Amino acid sequence: MTDRLEAAKKARTNVFGVLSAFPAERICDHGEGIYLFDQDGKKYIDFCGSPIACCLGHGDQRITQAVTEQMKKVSLCFGTFWINEREGELAERILKRAQQNLTRCQFVNSGSEAMESAIKLARQYHLENNKPEKHIVISRWQGYHGMTLAALSVTGFTSRRAKFGPLLHPWPKIDAPLCYRCPYDLSYPNCGVICAKALDTLINQVGAQYVAAFLAEPIGGTGTACMVPVPEYYPMVREICDKHDVLFIDDEVICGFGRTGKWFGIEHWEVNPDMTIMAKGMTGGYTPLAALLIDDRIAKTFEKTGGKFINAFTTAGNPVSCAAGLAVVDIIEKERLVERSARLGEYLHQRAREKLSPHPTVGDIRGKGMLMGVELVKNKETKEPFDPTLLASSRVHQLAMEKGCMVFPTSGFDGGVRGDAIIIAPPFIITESEIDTALDVVDEVLTDFEKEAA
Ligand SMILES: Cc1ncc(COP(=O)(O)O)c(C=O)c1O
Repeated sequence: MTDRLEAAKKARTNVFGVLSAFPAERICDHGEGIYLFDQDGKKYIDFCGSPIACCLGHGDQRITQAVTEQMKKVSLCFGTFWINEREGELAERILKRAQQNLTRCQFVNSGSEAMESAIKLARQYHLENNKPEKHIVISRWQGYHGMTLAALSVTGFTSRRAKFGPLLHPWPKIDAPLCYRCPYDLSYPNCGVICAKALDTLINQVGAQYVAAFLAEPIGGTGTACMVPVPEYYPMVREICDKHDVLFIDDEVICGFGRTGKWFGIEHWEVNPDMTIMAKGMTGGYTPLAALLIDDRIAKTFEKTGGKFINAFTTAGNPVSCAAGLAVVDIIEKERLVERSARLGEYLHQRAREKLSPHPTVGDIRGKGMLMGVELVKNKETKEPFDPTLLASSRVHQLAMEKGCMVFPTSGFDGGVRGDAIIIAPPFIITESEIDTALDVVDEVLTDFEKEAA
């Protein structure tokens, strides 16, 4: 035990940025199925997928075996010197599951890297097409796309941008299509989906000749606590992008690989993006891996011009991560986990509405499939959020951890600075009764939180 506490101390002392907001001495010892265990053997249900990446549960020996087998053969073969068989196989498997227009895949290491790559590719695509002025990337407030500087520039998550303003590209943004807090104070359907039309207006204002791409998460992630845009939204976005020769980049880092009950979240709107990025679920969180899928006409443009897309990262698409990715795709397909995510997702949302909606602090429950946001409000009638200094979502997270349940805290979707929520995104292998047990814990936690906040 002393050794373990010593290890915790080492992490806190030597690793820069180990979160200090949470209790200190909790070591993650091991994982099994939907649970993680601490150093004392206390079990925590991973009700947020660690966060939102763990789709197959922890400790799956099939993935361990695939990774180990690959490591015994070779772990690294640099892409400009060698053909990497695993990379080719995985690219083919993923492209088969994506929309038909996406015909090429490039691997990188993280969601942020994939976003950087998509932005660079959009820029170069227009250059190759003799439209060098097209360089601006439009995104949405409250969208989250990563921590690196270009990815953070398109991120509209105010607290994450706050300290880096002067380093970020001043690219324009439209408001998030979050009906619960409509930025136009309108109601669907009478609103005419003005939040989508805003893209057309902005492109006209900026000048279409300067705009390279628009990008969005199909279903919001941490920045909006799982906002689901209305059915007309993405078809309208697609039409607007086509009208202005603006590429539509679909960020599936959270939604991809079955999280929302389809392979890719944008399929709910039957819209084809020009690029799709993905990470998290593609290896179930077992190894770092991300990818960028590319529309055929973009690939063909490069073929025609002979343009080289210089975007190589040392460990991108390494055989070990690709072996993990292949094992994950195998398991998802064999066990029909995308269908399971859709079915269990319906159950999760229905049970959450029954158990959590009656709480005076639960303002909205939103999302799709195994991705759910629970917005916490001070006043349900007026939707008044909690005072941000109370850190309401972090407090709910802490109380849930004490009771052995992991939920992901997030905030800032009311005008960028207020608004609290927890995200629930369990592994797809969870059962109905485990969902019930975990929701009972969240129910108790909310009751405790409400006593404290009263
Ligand atoms: C929608 C979305 N895009 C991009 C990213 C960045 O991915 P990564 O953390 O792998 O860099 C995230 C991370 O949470 C995300 O949720």
